[in-house]
Amino acid sequence: MIILILNGPNLNLLGTREPTTYGAQTLDDVNRVLDVLARELGVELKYLQSNHEGVLLDALHARDFDAVVLNAGALTHTSYALRDAIAAIGKPVVEVHISNVHQREKWRHHSVISEVSAGTIVGFGVLGYELGLRAAVAILRKSAS
Ligand code: DQA
Repeated sequence: MIILILNGPNLNLLGTREPTTYGAQTLDDVNRVLDVLARELGVELKYLQSNHEGVLLDALHARDFDAVVLNAGALTHTSYALRDAIAAIGKPVVEVHISNVHQREKWRHHSVISEVSAGTIVGFGVLGYELGLRAAVAILRKSAS
């Protein structure tokens, strides 16, 4: 079972970017924790972060994974291309947001990808990635049984 951990624009800046909103952990810190969890769950992870929408689309189109844990950053609120890619690949995508977008600016309240995501985890800080990974694995195991 292969899960792609996919991060969009500005998430490479975790740790230094608005730490009161996104916390002090870097993306490498987060990925190290996910590595440990993946071993526990017996799944393989692939990681990709990009600030470029097309790179994220290409990674989804590659379909070389069973499920995706996706924090699309601000593309969450604007990218119909990402929404259509998720709909096209036919694999479960768990949407993750570190911050509670519903307690922030109005434009962050709507996600154009939620409609095609398996589910959304919002506002639990970087713990959301662990919850997202657990959710992705549970979805895959349920569909295999
Ligand atoms: C985010 C929320 C988005 O609104 C924002 O643009 C991000 C990060 C989050 O993880 O809370 O870049 O997806």
